[in-house]
Amino acid sequence: MCGIVGYSGKQNSSKIVLEGLKTLEYRGYDSWGIAVQDKNQIKIFKEIGEIKTKLSMLPLPKTSCAIGHTRWATHGGVTMTNAHPHISTTKDFILAQNGIVENYTPLKNMLKKKNYKFKTQTDTEVIVRLIEQQTNKEDTFRDSVRGAFNMLEGRNTIIVLNSKQKENIIAVKNGSPLVLGIGKDELFLASDALAFTRYTKDVVFFDNLDLIEIKGNKFKIYDSRTGKEKKYKITKLNSKVEEVSKGKYDHFMLKEILEQKDTISKAVNYKLEEIKPLIEEMKKSNRIYITGAGTAGFASGQIAYFLRSISKVDILDIRPYDFTSYLPILKKDDLVIAVSQSGETADTIEVLEYAQEIGSTIACIVNVEGSTIHRMSEFKYLIHAGPEICVASTKVFTSQCVFGYLLAKSMVGEYTEAREEVESMSSELGEYFSEKTFEHIKGLVKKIRGRNHFFILGKDQNAYIALEGALKIKEISYKHFEGFSAGELKHGVIALIDKGTPVFTIISDDMCSKDLLSATEEVRARGAYTVGVGSSKFKGEECFDYFLPVVKGKGLSSIANVIPFQLLSYFLAVSLGNSVDKPRNLAKSVTVK
Ligand code: F6R
Repeated sequence: MCGIVGYSGKQNSSKIVLEGLKTLEYRGYDSWGIAVQDKNQIKIFKEIGEIKTKLSMLPLPKTSCAIGHTRWATHGGVTMTNAHPHISTTKDFILAQNGIVENYTPLKNMLKKKNYKFKTQTDTEVIVRLIEQQTNKEDTFRDSVRGAFNMLEGRNTIIVLNSKQKENIIAVKNGSPLVLGIGKDELFLASDALAFTRYTKDVVFFDNLDLIEIKGNKFKIYDSRTGKEKKYKITKLNSKVEEVSKGKYDHFMLKEILEQKDTISKAVNYKLEEIKPLIEEMKKSNRIYITGAGTAGFASGQIAYFLRSISKVDILDIRPYDFTSYLPILKKDDLVIAVSQSGETADTIEVLEYAQEIGSTIACIVNVEGSTIHRMSEFKYLIHAGPEICVASTKVFTSQCVFGYLLAKSMVGEYTEAREEVESMSSELGEYFSEKTFEHIKGLVKKIRGRNHFFILGKDQNAYIALEGALKIKEISYKHFEGFSAGELKHGVIALIDKGTPVFTIISDDMCSKDLLSATEEVRARGAYTVGVGSSKFKGEECFDYFLPVVKGKGLSSIANVIPFQLLSYFLAVSLGNSVDKPRNLAKSVTVK
């Protein structure tokens, strides 16, 4: 949440920062702002909403040093006043934050008593005033920033542009991500390396509480607590530099849905020898936990399902924000598997920090190389789905699930079979993604778009798919879609069904199919408009008013079943005129709790 960019070098700094912010816009799009260092002054440009202003229209001088921020509002409404970066009273420096100052109320009260004035409702302005207070006490600007930062509680990463020293940027990382890019005579800072990988893949990752000071094209790293200089390591990013563009598509979401044909294959592109260390670790662990939030949480659930049902692994699938009661029983010889797209989700990281403290082993299934979760893990599995820009996750969900399937099958000696199944699903998807399929789904959109409440029934292998299908549609269409296990129906939920209520049933050719057909009959008897999603074997069943057939997918049929919901979500949102890639109130990387 929130994206930070900084640049010092030979290129036009506002161009680089604007490009970087555009790339990081998935992290928040309430407002954005750029500040450049112009001789001994700071020039600022801010705007509400998405980045629409082009470089040629940006009223900023060409300079060599700038910072920028794209905001997902936490404290204070979406206004120009609250938009970052925030300038100091004397206009000597300007600052942006990604995170939350948890103790901002006592700090603000303390500063107010000392006559410091506040113009915004943000917690970030507190940091600006704290630095002002420290400048009267410390010798160097770096020490003032350090002194102020050390008073903050919470996860916060800041970037500060100082106008009094040429090309001087200071950043401090705590919790929220930050990475330095080292180019030829130029330096980049960003919340995600994607913001600058077109210029360099040489990066430095930071530990929490690292302070980075840039002066021109030189930098130094300090421990923000002690002020002592630290050594650093330059890492070369392996991932192919992917141009983040929509290509021929109107939205990233459709592009990313269609990419699943290839991304599922890339996710399982591991040799058996590469998977074995995790299998061995799972075998010797006292207890195995798997955790993730939102869509990644549903992927964790699905992976746990595969591990239990295929390889009889005793695994606990717990959401990170619900982990509190498990913390006292977490042991040194337990294994925690984190599932995440960004690798930066605050709730998940908090569980891993605890696990790290007591010495439990950490493994991860993530998409972003070098992310916090990736670096914290001993057993690291990248799913190589490439950048996922649409806020609603699609390709990463299926990639994480197929990786989990491969893991489960490899444990029972069926590695090759699993790889073949993924390949066969990939080629089936090639045919499935056609105008015919899209028109069929759009036909359903016309029938249901006027309704506001929808239900999705799943069971066993499709239970988490029902939850993920519902989440996908909620996020983009803002309609109330509720997924639940078909088993729950008669225990209460059926009371919500009345004439015309759309009810989706996810049906695979498995031992639950009879129960699902009966559940569909029951809701239909109460007036529901029933939609079957799944194996075409059930296409002709009378209980369905509409049917969305899905590719066979063999053992992966549950994963395939999520795809019609992704497409439905997309076409429904387009027909409602909603912002598909940047839905209201959301941000992709949830780096605050
Ligand atoms: C929904 C979605 C979110 C994320 C969740 C965790 O489409 O993308 O629910 O899955 O915020 O994020 P990551 O996977 O980055 O840990």
